[in-house]
Amino acid sequence: MKKINLLIVFGGTSSERSVSVWSANNIIKAIDHKKYNLSLVFIDKFGTWYSLNNSTEIDETLITKKLKTFDEAYLVLKNKKGGLLNMKNHKIKPVDVGFPVLHGINGEDGSIQGLLQMYNIKYVGSNILGSSINMNKVIAKELLKNSNIKIANFIGIKDYELKNWNFRKIKKILNVPFFIKPVSTGSSIGINKIYNQKEFQRSLTVALKYDHKIIVEEYIKGREIECSVLGNTNPIASLPGEIIPKDEFYSYADKCINSDGAQLIIPAKLNKTQIKKIQAVALQAYKTLECSGLARVDMFLTNNNEVYLNEINTIPGFTNISMFPKLWNISGLDYAQLINILISLALKN
Ligand SMILES: Nc1ncnc2c1ncn2[C@@H]1O[C@H](COP(=O)(O)OP(=O)(O)O)[C@@H](O)[C@H]1O
Ligand SMILES: [Mg+2]
Repeated sequence: MKKINLLIVFGGTSSERSVSVWSANNIIKAIDHKKYNLSLVFIDKFGTWYSLNNSTEIDETLITKKLKTFDEAYLVLKNKKGGLLNMKNHKIKPVDVGFPVLHGINGEDGSIQGLLQMYNIKYVGSNILGSSINMNKVIAKELLKNSNIKIANFIGIKDYELKNWNFRKIKKILNVPFFIKPVSTGSSIGINKIYNQKEFQRSLTVALKYDHKIIVEEYIKGREIECSVLGNTNPIASLPGEIIPKDEFYSYADKCINSDGAQLIIPAKLNKTQIKKIQAVALQAYKTLECSGLARVDMFLTNNNEVYLNEINTIPGFTNISMFPKLWNISGLDYAQLINILISLALKN
């Protein structure tokens, strides 16, 4: 069988660069080299693309130290086929499929998806529209409002509209506590739970560091449940998993810093009816929000068994502690098989 030319792009300019490198490390380790000719690109924090040799250790500090020794490489289109042009030796490596292992802005928001599309390269994951919808917490929730999926009440506020809002006014609409988030970050970066005026002011400044628009959201008291979804036109949902945060909520420290941070319960302890309902909501949201390939769908399950959709991650983490691969693993798919499926779904798109 002909080998598929696979390009894995990781690193990136977003605040989630480190998570991306951890994910890429796992994916690259698990790749079946008999099936794929692998090209690796690390994007540094300024956006420069570097071509890495396949033997490079995938570690952010090591790569950053050796950056000068790598050749820059960029996408090109030659004879209608996409390829990676090495800027030093001017050789072009063909690329059939791109796997953007990039989280956040420029990676998960439709940017790189658009870039790959322009070079006739198929790619893993949602298309431009699906990626950008899910990167924007306000747009995604606006679309969900028209479905029968439950979501927290929310207010989207642009920086120049803030003069119309204050703590008391928001408290009246959403009660306390409520959440303040930048509309388009991930890994809980810039997110705070607000109980009082002081926290409100401080958290506005924090959130606005990451985005010019924020979402203020009603607090949903419930268990944090996540489902992994795979597929294009007929997606399937994994068994749900549960996150038990160590912090007050599932924070950046819980996700990325503390090794003894949040607890992942895989699969979540749920009865059959609950599982069915959660999977149905996950699949409906996946379709409503234009996802394809893969996504992790995050929900809250309340005491009276109501399922609220929190968000969809179109490029979920693949780190050692990530829910997405673990949930497929208990269904019998190991990392290598999961990657094969993702690439065959990309080729079908
Ligand atoms: N409306 C909410 N009610 C309760 N907890 C929330 C709410 N919104 C966010 N959280 C908590 O904050 C975490 C991060 O928020 P989320 O919207 O998922 O941002 P991110 O995209 O950074 O993961 C969630 O996993 C959850 O613990
Ligand atoms: Mg989240």
